[in-house]
Amino acid sequence: MRRKFVAGNWKMNCSLSEAQQLAQDICTSLEKEEISVDVAICPTFLCLSSICSLVKDFQKQGGSDIGVGAQNLHWENKGAFTGEVSAPMLHDMGCSYAIIGHSERRTLFGETNEAVSKKALAALQSGLLPIVCIGETLEERENEKTEEVLRLQLEGSLAGLSPAQVEACTIAYEPVWAIGTGKTASPEMAQTVHAFIRNYLTQKYTSAIAQSIRIQYGGSVKPDNIRELINQPDIDGALVGGASLKADSFSEIIKLCSL
Ligand code: 13P
Repeated sequence: MRRKFVAGNWKMNCSLSEAQQLAQDICTSLEKEEISVDVAICPTFLCLSSICSLVKDFQKQGGSDIGVGAQNLHWENKGAFTGEVSAPMLHDMGCSYAIIGHSERRTLFGETNEAVSKKALAALQSGLLPIVCIGETLEERENEKTEEVLRLQLEGSLAGLSPAQVEACTIAYEPVWAIGTGKTASPEMAQTVHAFIRNYLTQKYTSAIAQSIRIQYGGSVKPDNIRELINQPDIDGALVGGASLKADSFSEIIKLCSL
């Protein structure tokens, strides 16, 4: 049985003090006994150090185990790459996860499948668990290209990873047209795509690997739509944007996934 996984992608939001407050509020609103899913929060690079120690302290005091993830990384370990941050640096800081290939990075910063695969490999080699994002645009969906696009993204983004490394990844299906738009894929629509992804993983790797990989849904996830989504057999959690910036809505989503 796959353990569900809810992650909050804070994107480029929150000053340091706002991030600390938000993390603190999320920690205190999550009673350990109520939570039966994996949880991660992904602040900006700037806030990672502080948030990693905050969640660690909280856990030491008997609070829930909340992981911290980066939103991006560079595939080289170090060197002349101005403005970049590497996987070993993030791991050293206390991160457990890294979001890789988010559609905003793909569309706004030209991130290719090849770059995504190098980043995923670098993350794994440094002990970070990648959340590899894929998703089609509205135009691609309307032109019935969804499966073709996702197949190419999966093929390219996981290229160079061993089957065991693929198994350590979480896949986040985020239809681009549902991100930040208030439009969510219907539970049936999302389930169809998640089943397609799992089927791809079964064909490409093994059924055991495909069955153990968690596939998150992302795109306008909120407390009032998460129940229907999480009840689908191939939806194993959520990658939450806007609703993860408020402690009450994020913890509500986590609690609803824990029922
Ligand atoms: P929203 O939940 O704001 O639509 O963002 C989804 C997302 O991009 C998470 O990575």
